[in-house]
Amino acid sequence: MKAKMSFTVNGETVTLETDGSRALLWVLRSDLGLTGSKYGCGVGMCGSCTILVDGVPTRACLADLNHVEGKEVTTIEGLGEPGELHPLQQEFYERGAYQCGYCTPGMIMNAYGMLQENSDPTREEIIRGMDGNLCRCSAYKRILEAIESYAGSRSDRGAKGDGHE
Ligand code: FES
Ligand code: FES
Repeated sequence: MKAKMSFTVNGETVTLETDGSRALLWVLRSDLGLTGSKYGCGVGMCGSCTILVDGVPTRACLADLNHVEGKEVTTIEGLGEPGELHPLQQEFYERGAYQCGYCTPGMIMNAYGMLQENSDPTREEIIRGMDGNLCRCSAYKRILEAIESYAGSRSDRGAKGDGHE
């Protein structure tokens, strides 16, 4: 059943009249043109669709619109953009922490959310925090190094914020 739904996406208020049971991933991709979040498994097992809802890493293939009513959604498009990458994206880029790149938006959003909770994680904590994000190209080593490097650069500066500094 259609209803009016409002939430924030990357700082912009969005109001849609649609079925609240629709998966957020398809609303982002089809209705809002935000195709950075990827469809992988569709059942919460791969992490390629990971976005943040009120700062918490969330599988957009499982979350429906009712779940985000009145909340703040952040997608990979809200983190940085070509020519102005977020420092975490920059680390992935510089370290070649991808091969086909399909898992990369979900990896970055999951890592970003994880680092909001724990700004100075150990290697073990990063591995555990990223455990639900799969990379079929097996770029895990470089992904881990990129996240470690970004986390290290933040803790070197004593940063506890969102890393835009
Ligand atoms: S597509 Fe959402 S977890 Fe795989
Ligand atoms: S870079 Fe291809 S799936 Fe991870």
